[in-house]
Amino acid sequence: MYESVVSGEKSFRLAVLGSGKGSNFAAIAEGCAKRTIPAQVAVVVSDVADAGILAQARQRGINAEFIAPGKFRTKLDEEAETRLVELLKGGQIDLVVLAGFMRILKGEFLRAFAGRVINIHPALLPAFPGLEAWKQALDYGVRVTGCTVHFVDQGIDTGPIIAQETVPVVAGDTYEKLHARIQEAEHRLYPKAVAALATGKIAVKGRQVVWLE
Ligand code: GRF
Repeated sequence: MYESVVSGEKSFRLAVLGSGKGSNFAAIAEGCAKRTIPAQVAVVVSDVADAGILAQARQRGINAEFIAPGKFRTKLDEEAETRLVELLKGGQIDLVVLAGFMRILKGEFLRAFAGRVINIHPALLPAFPGLEAWKQALDYGVRVTGCTVHFVDQGIDTGPIIAQETVPVVAGDTYEKLHARIQEAEHRLYPKAVAALATGKIAVKGRQVVWLE
């Protein structure tokens, strides 16, 4: 009834895209090294030349590529997007893992990797999409927030939800404390979701994502 998104037969190749410090990348790379994720990070790509994620990739001996984003602030220009697609196609990438990548990917990129791009968001979607979701949650006054791994579609944080973990908001929370606690949850949740995708355990039908046994 459901069609498996990916199958885990050959070596499963990840591209991790990020603009920041790369703590989620580190958690995933660690999972690959320990084989709790049966996959390899084939390449790390950033739109920020001095991003921590690139330095961390180089330290681990993983191919690290900077792509100059071009003239826009929130997306890659056409040339940069074409370069990115060529880089990932050339690297025979099975799954594109967005980990704090601050550029919206649309059109050509999503067509080239249809159903194979995932993201982690620091809130329980569909609540608090967009930027600095932990601030939005604290300001709103929710008692529980968390993180969400989801497929990427044309919208902002709107794709089918693969996994979520809750994080309580506690007395005395600041933006920083809450964000740090959410990130701890991210480092558990994202590797689990990537492992499930790498082993063909995730099927999707419309908005419904099913974890196969
Ligand atoms: C994470 O909090 C994630 O939820 C958001 O960007 C942040 C990336 O952090 N999408 P890091 O670079 O993985 O440490």
